[in-house]
Amino acid sequence: MKRKNIIIDCDPGQDDAIMLLLAFSAPEKLNILGITTVAGNVPLEKTQRNARIITELAGIENIKIYAGCDRPIKKKLITAEYVHGIEGIDGAPIFNPKIPLEEQHAVDFIIETLSLSEDDSITLVPTGPLTNIAQAIKKNPKILNKISEIVIMGGAMKEGGNTTPSAEFNIYVDPHAAEIVLNAGKPIVIMPLDVTHKVITNTEITNRIEKLGNKSGKLVASMLKFYNRFDEKKYGSDGGPLHDPCTIAYLLDSELFIGKQVNVSVETKSELTLGCTSVDFWEVTNKSKNCFWIYDVNKDGFFDMLLRQISKLK
Ligand code: BDR
Ligand code: CA
Repeated sequence: MKRKNIIIDCDPGQDDAIMLLLAFSAPEKLNILGITTVAGNVPLEKTQRNARIITELAGIENIKIYAGCDRPIKKKLITAEYVHGIEGIDGAPIFNPKIPLEEQHAVDFIIETLSLSEDDSITLVPTGPLTNIAQAIKKNPKILNKISEIVIMGGAMKEGGNTTPSAEFNIYVDPHAAEIVLNAGKPIVIMPLDVTHKVITNTEITNRIEKLGNKSGKLVASMLKFYNRFDEKKYGSDGGPLHDPCTIAYLLDSELFIGKQVNVSVETKSELTLGCTSVDFWEVTNKSKNCFWIYDVNKDGFFDMLLRQISKLK
């Protein structure tokens, strides 16, 4: 497999943090050009700090981290401390990381990096609200030529919403940004709740991760113990869904997932269904197919990969 050049855009979040660790674990497959952060699960000053904490704890030294937009394009920011805790990655140690925050704005970093790259050479991996990506496209649409694929965590169809009855968190926070990205005319893969709710951890998996014998395994288990409490109460499950790691798992082994090329449109006006992803799964419109909508996963294969990869870290 050719090494993919990726930019990760995230809002850590425990599941974003585990996504980062999964990405760090496969340097032979993924060339991480930078990590950009956005306001989402918690405000920007915490998401950028959290990305630096997780990177430092994993012992990764050569990846730069940028802060981007501190609010959605048009809406007021809503955050999700009720899921992720007051720090966003509760369960992990919180400290002032030595890894510096780059001075350059994340949107400018994305534009500059893409502008200097070959056509169709960069994969974007957004696992938070799509504000940074949309602002970069708005500011310099020429960068679109440089993008080979965008692998997004967001949206929901059969599963319903997790933030409103019909909207998933990342899309609900900034539906106007999502609309720009989904209509950008680039190959898009979406990991919606329909699939992420199929990779729910449980006590046995968390214990196995904790016993991997390395610091990263302990870190993941400790974050999961905090994170799981919310979904256990809400869904009556024995753990929580690993939303964001699905993006990196797809890049490492797309055969774990099943999807369909469909049209996905985002509701940006209705108060009732704001941020809903309208998925033309059964092709009842003539709208162009803009997304590869993932709806199933080999759950055992996913967790085997996660454990195998986390065990490779410090
Ligand atoms: C998404 O929202 C956030 O809470 C998670 O980090 C994930 O990206 C799931 O709806
Ligand atoms: Ca996230």
